[in-house]
Amino acid sequence: MATQLWNSAAPDPLDGWSLPAWTYADPEFLAVEKERIFAPSWQVVCHESDVPNVGDWHTLEYIGESVIVVRGNDRQLRAFTNVCRHRGSRVVDGASGCAKRLVCPYHAWTYDLDGRLIGVPDSQSYPGFDRASHGLAPVDIEVWRGFIFVRLVDDSGPSIAQMMAPYEEMVAPYRFEDLKALGRVTMRPREVNWKNVGDNYSDGLHIPVAHPGLTRLFGRSYGVEAERHVDRMWGDLIDTPSVNWSERMYQRLLPPVPHLPGDRQRHWLYFKLWPGVAFDIYPDQVDFMQWLPTGPESCMIREISYILPDDRREMKAARYLNWRINRQVNVEDTALITRVQAGMASRTFSVGPLSDKEVCLRRFCKRIRELIPEARQSERPASGGSQK
Ligand code: FES
Ligand SMILES: [Fe+2]
Repeated sequence: MATQLWNSAAPDPLDGWSLPAWTYADPEFLAVEKERIFAPSWQVVCHESDVPNVGDWHTLEYIGESVIVVRGNDRQLRAFTNVCRHRGSRVVDGASGCAKRLVCPYHAWTYDLDGRLIGVPDSQSYPGFDRASHGLAPVDIEVWRGFIFVRLVDDSGPSIAQMMAPYEEMVAPYRFEDLKALGRVTMRPREVNWKNVGDNYSDGLHIPVAHPGLTRLFGRSYGVEAERHVDRMWGDLIDTPSVNWSERMYQRLLPPVPHLPGDRQRHWLYFKLWPGVAFDIYPDQVDFMQWLPTGPESCMIREISYILPDDRREMKAARYLNWRINRQVNVEDTALITRVQAGMASRTFSVGPLSDKEVCLRRFCKRIRELIPEARQSERPASGGSQK
């Protein structure tokens, strides 16, 4: 079924239309998305400053895999699947830790921090077993401006540095490399398809309608643009004092930030990297958000803030207020995506039109249709239709 159904040189009649609703609730479609979208794409795990010492490790669980990033004795960062080469047990548990060696809890096979298998109890009972070729399975890793990304399958797609190349100059003043985590990763499970979360983040039209706080803070200054691999959104904080306490105090207290140029002192900047990692950049902090499928109608949002050292009371207050404002936006967005997921289940809905202004959504839908041509069908294909 995955044949080319249209001539890619001609204008695509589906440009300007959303993805059909069935793709937001279909187990087979999700299975194909995992293979064609998530396995070959980069996913953020943490920041270098989260694993500063030899033996520090962090894990990321997604699409049925667990990946471990660990700093070796040579201080290099490496990534492996968190799977013992003996009987397949998970090797480490939890989100992070520090170890001298990675020891599987099942039969104590032991791996060096560089992934080599260095200990097999009763090893003579495995005649002919080649220890050297049974280290932990390596996973691609990229450190971009301090943030650590992993990729399960190399499909020769671009690196994060290549994806972000058009924006390097814009990002440079924020000193990503020097950031430190403020707290831990928050895990927010959502009972919606992963695309529904990303669609909402890319949707500029709903902001004046559904986010009164953001509208009070940024007025109509919202901009959106879509590059091949990256969406950008931006806005500028307005001076008119908000009627809302948190917003007004944020406007008032956000202090000058010495390392940022003048036009960034009150600027908000947001990058979304294909398919579902976003950097939310404020003068006072940088957050990453990542949304990963956990089922056809469920996903997990991972979210964390990073900051540069700044002991000023106004800065601490601004960060707290930023968190409060975003918590409210989050509540509003969660209600919206829940409504959409429910409405999409109706037999009366399949696709809807996308405004010319929705460049990010248009780009996203187009790319999904290119990767998974079944997404061109307004109705769910017969079972087995999404198999290669
Ligand atoms: S499964 Fe890991 S040591 Fe046996
Ligand atoms: Fe929103």
